[in-house]
Parts: sequence; structure tokens; C-alpha cells
Amino acid sequence: MRIVDIIDKKKKGMELTKEEIDYFISSLVNRSMPDYQASAWLMAVWFKGMTEDETACLTEAMINSGERIDFGELTNRIVDKHSTGGVGDKVTITLIPLLAAAGIPIAKLSGKGLGHTGGTIDKLESIPGFSCALTTEDLKKQVKEIGVAIGQQTGNLTPADGMLYALRDVTATVDSLPLICSSVVSKKIAAGAGNIILDVKYGSGAFMKTPQDAIKLAELMVNTGKKLSKPITAVVTSMEEPLGRAVGNSIEVIESIDFLKGNIVTGDIAELTYDFAKVALMLTGRFLDEQTAEDYVKELIHSGKAIDKFKELIIAQGGNPEVIEDYNKFDQPQFTIEVKSKTSGYVKKIDAYKVAYGCKLLGAGREKKGDPIDYGVGVFLNKKTGEFVNSGETLYTIYANDSTKADLCKEYCTQAYKFCEEKPEKLKPIYAIIKP
Ligand code: URA
Repeated sequence: MRIVDIIDKKKKGMELTKEEIDYFISSLVNRSMPDYQASAWLMAVWFKGMTEDETACLTEAMINSGERIDFGELTNRIVDKHSTGGVGDKVTITLIPLLAAAGIPIAKLSGKGLGHTGGTIDKLESIPGFSCALTTEDLKKQVKEIGVAIGQQTGNLTPADGMLYALRDVTATVDSLPLICSSVVSKKIAAGAGNIILDVKYGSGAFMKTPQDAIKLAELMVNTGKKLSKPITAVVTSMEEPLGRAVGNSIEVIESIDFLKGNIVTGDIAELTYDFAKVALMLTGRFLDEQTAEDYVKELIHSGKAIDKFKELIIAQGGNPEVIEDYNKFDQPQFTIEVKSKTSGYVKKIDAYKVAYGCKLLGAGREKKGDPIDYGVGVFLNKKTGEFVNSGETLYTIYANDSTKADLCKEYCTQAYKFCEEKPEKLKPIYAIIKP
């Protein structure tokens, strides 16, 4: 078999066999195939797509590229949640300690920033000392000891996804249904949880721009799970505007800490976290009705159990737990620029992609594979959709380490805001739930 023939076949839109897909993935992982051939294949898949059978074969080959964690009798109690990527999407950081505090074991493999979207690993690693580079053994041990661990696809866990993910990020091949599906589902199955919940996003800040495309992706993921004998629940949610107010890395962790301390009780971050917590608590059979589940979740926050669990997680993964009380322990940006509104009216819309692009220009994301991240930079949205702003009031705040980059970011964020005279209608965070 030759890689060039596999690329050529996909370029012509033909269906690849299981053997060809296995050969492609093993050549990637044993490094006999150069990055330029892998990139050409990714672009061919982006243009020509894959059938459901090909997608399942690719997912399986990616799982088999490394180890699979076996949690034994704990498997059916373990929950894993993953988002297809958004802007300001910190729901993993708000949800995971909450579920762990509820006694639901969590084993999660997260990703780094991809395309314009932020990555949970980059966000968590903005906590000084925090590391997601856990081995399979570390991950298992930590879940057994403290009930929660967040790792990444290093070394022996889905190495094929680690390699393709980094290439997709810099070759404009992220927003492809089979590539997103295989990337997410392979990591989730390899990580060994019995209950997988996926947050499939649509909107300007997501890879899928419309709810219809997000539903297609959600169905593909649920069906791929079925073909590989793993039940997956997919929740389709909006990413038309950034989630919460903070977009960046450390500022998103700070917003999550505020939520876990009980300082944020309304708004999209709170609503979506409660909604996902309810889905998880009901999926694992802990509660049968939503209201009781929600009351219980709120009590975990109110009692301090959720933030205590986050502190335990930070300590277990080498981070400095003082960040919880003292936000100055995070990297501090040099400049804080409050941008004032030139308009009075209701915020009608905030284009999540434009805000993400502005943040990337500040250094919150990567331009090319392996670039360092500037953890302290980002944008805080003082005003969100549906809120009234007076001319001269602060609309958003830029945290930057370079004034030229801050000016560029300002251009994008200012363009992102649209205003109207009437208060706009509020959208529900969840659009649809697709069950196995
Ligand atoms: N998250 C992933 O892990 N992979 C993708 O392709 C998109 C989001």
C-alpha cells in the first residue's frame, strides 16, 4: 500500500477500506509518513467527506493507536463530557468539579485550543504548575483517589488524535464532520468512561455554523458510538455569542472559579452548567426529575463542596491552589484597556468568531503548531446580548501584553457587537438532545 494512492483515492471522493484507513493511521503514528502527506489527506477528507462506515473505521483506528483505559467495575459510574469547541466555553471547568462533588467519578481527556476555539488544557494550564500530561496510570489512580482527573492525549492515549489535531489546527481542516467526530469520539472511548455526554455547538463561534449542521454532527457521533458499542448522548447548544463574559485562558478559569464559589448564579454559563449537570445526574440514575437534580447541584455550590473539589483537582495535578483565593497568582497582563460604547441601546448580538479572532491576535491561541500561549491575555465582555448599554459605558475590556496587538483586537471586538432598540428575545441554551 502507498500513502499517495490513499490520498489520491480520497481526493477523487472514493470510499476508503478499513485496511487503507488502518495503514494511514499506523503510518502516522510510527512516523513513516511525513506531515505533508497527512496534511494533504486531511484536506482531501475536508473536501470529499467520509461515509459513516469510514468514519467509524477511522475512529476505531485512532482508538487502537494507543491504549484504552479500563476502569473495571467503576466504568458504568464514570462520566466524561466533551465540547466540539467554542469561544469562552469553560463549561468543562465549571461542570467537572461539580459532578465530582456529587460523587460521580470523572475521567476526562481534553484538548488544546483548535482553530479559533480555546482548549480546556490551555485554560487549566494557565494555573501555575497545573499539568494535564497524565499517564494512563496517573489518570486511573487519580480518579480512584479523588474522583476526578483531566488529562490529554499524550503518549499512549489516542496518539493519532494528538498528531492529527495539531495538523488540523494549522491546515484549516478542523471544521469537517468526520474529522471532528473521529477526534472527539476516539478520545472519549479510549478514556474508558461508561457515560459519554457531548456538547455539539453551532453558531458563529462553533465549527458548525447552523443548528442543522450541528444535528448532523451530533447524529454522526451518536451513530459512531453505536457502531463501536458505546452509548453516547449528544446535546446541541448555541455558540452564537461567547459563553460567559471571559474569553482567553486565565480569565476563563477565574470566571469558572467565581461560578464554583457561587458568585455567578444567572446567565448562560450558570444555565448551561446546571443543564449539563442535570443530564449527567439523570443519565447515571442519580435523580429522576430535573428540579430535584438542579436543587442538589445548587446546594453543592452553596455549601462550598464544588469549589473544594476544584481545589483538590488543582493540587492533584500540580497546580497552585492559591489562585482560588488570590487571582493575582495568575500571570498578570501589562495592559488593561476599557473600551467604551459609542452607542446607546440593547446589545443584539456579539459575533463569537470575531471575539475569538481578536483574542488569538492578542496571543491567547496558537498561529502554528507548538506556538506558546500567552495565558494572561483575553477579552472580558462587560455587556452581553440582551443587556442595555449607555454611550460612554464600558462595553468590553481587553487584557494585553502588546499595545499593537491590543489595537488589532479592538477592531475585531468592536465589529463583533451589534445593537438594537428593543430588548432581543432570549434563546434557550439547549437546542436539542440526541440519545443513543
Ligand atoms: N474537540 C476535539 O477534541 N476535536 C475536534 O476535532 C473538535 C473539538
